Amino acid sequence: MTKKRVAKAKSPRTQAIHGEFLSKSWEFSHHLIPPMTASTTFRLESLQRGAEGFSTFGAPSDKEKPIWIYDRLEEPTTKMLEDQLALLEKGECAVTFGSGMGAIASTLMSLLTSGQKVVAHKTLYGCTYSLLTNWLPRLGIRHAMMDVNDLKDLEAELADPTTRVVYFETVSNPILEIADLEKITALVKTANKKRSKEERIYTVVDNTFATPWALRPIEWGVDFVIQSLTKNISGFGTEMGGAVIAPKSHESMLRVARKDFGAIIHPYSAWHILVYGISTQAIRFEQQQDSAIAVAKFLESHPKVESVTYPGLKSHQQHKLAKKYLKSPEGKFAPGTMISFKLKGDMKKCQKFVDDIATNSYAITLAVSLGLTKTLIEVPGFMTHSAIPDDKRDHSGIDPRAIRLSIGLENVVDIIGDLSEALKKV
Ligand SMILES: Cc1ncc(COP(=O)(O)O)c(C=O)c1O
Repeated sequence: MTKKRVAKAKSPRTQAIHGEFLSKSWEFSHHLIPPMTASTTFRLESLQRGAEGFSTFGAPSDKEKPIWIYDRLEEPTTKMLEDQLALLEKGECAVTFGSGMGAIASTLMSLLTSGQKVVAHKTLYGCTYSLLTNWLPRLGIRHAMMDVNDLKDLEAELADPTTRVVYFETVSNPILEIADLEKITALVKTANKKRSKEERIYTVVDNTFATPWALRPIEWGVDFVIQSLTKNISGFGTEMGGAVIAPKSHESMLRVARKDFGAIIHPYSAWHILVYGISTQAIRFEQQQDSAIAVAKFLESHPKVESVTYPGLKSHQQHKLAKKYLKSPEGKFAPGTMISFKLKGDMKKCQKFVDDIATNSYAITLAVSLGLTKTLIEVPGFMTHSAIPDDKRDHSGIDPRAIRLSIGLENVVDIIGDLSEALKKV
């Protein structure tokens, strides 16, 4: 498609509005907005066409129109979302799932088999931790949890012939560490020089906190990028979804895994993420980020606050790395919308503060999830990361008193006002 070439030359902000402009997935040249399809199965004009659809599924030729068969295999609205995600993450293709966890589980189970090992960063989203430590071991897939920025340790793990995947979050949930992508991918590349194609190690990163508006891991040599679409990209708190942006060589395997695991996204959700989420994400993210900078500075200067972790603060332990990797597509520093902080005092103080916010704050809501138009507060050690056992929490770097804030689109004066009121009471 000639329009496809045109899309590639435009800025990501314009791509987010128009995508590839005219999709090969669906003829909608008279519509301004892509249609939402609402049929679980598709009419086929001949048995030969049906057989062709099944045999080419997962690896359709770019030249031909796809043959739609059944929603769990693929359907047009989802495909349009996938094309758009691949464009923004600068990947070869994208495969979507019913949730971020659906994308993570399907990707890891596609890449790993019994007897192999995933080397993962010690701090991970709680359910990812649970997947690696509770479920994959049942299939004989082992894990090593370590600091992936510790290059000596990483090198030793890469020398193990059973290591096949290095997994981490570009900005870790919840403690906002920055992965040194350039150095990590260089080490993996060196290790792969000594391996055959079948034995190569893949890097898989979760880019949910950063989103493509702050970091594009493929530009740093990463193989697979995961997004929980439920968060920033969907943005309004109405849809669940996940995606993996992958090399074309793995598209077929991922589509077949999704077909057989059944982890498909609903076309209704795909449509909302495509039409509302993606086209407004840059503007939401940047407004939320401006507010996050102001909130982080307010907290850091408050006498009742012990510490604040935010990549935009000079006090962030990896501020230099943050400046290197967290950038808008135009090159502006993009420290994100997430903050972690601790109050002075014990767990009781933390609980009193959070409960006060839950009861009395107008602008801030006690709820999990992140990246939404509403500002959300939670305590990861007891909520999103509670799957990590008490004796492993120290190793994960998760302090039970740490409070996580996801900054929304409210007037920042009201967000700071509510934090200030609650701080007066502890
Ligand atoms: C960093 C990160 N990755 C993955 C997920 C899982 O996404 P989902 O809830 O869409 O399955 C989450 C959920 O909070 C997350 O924070």
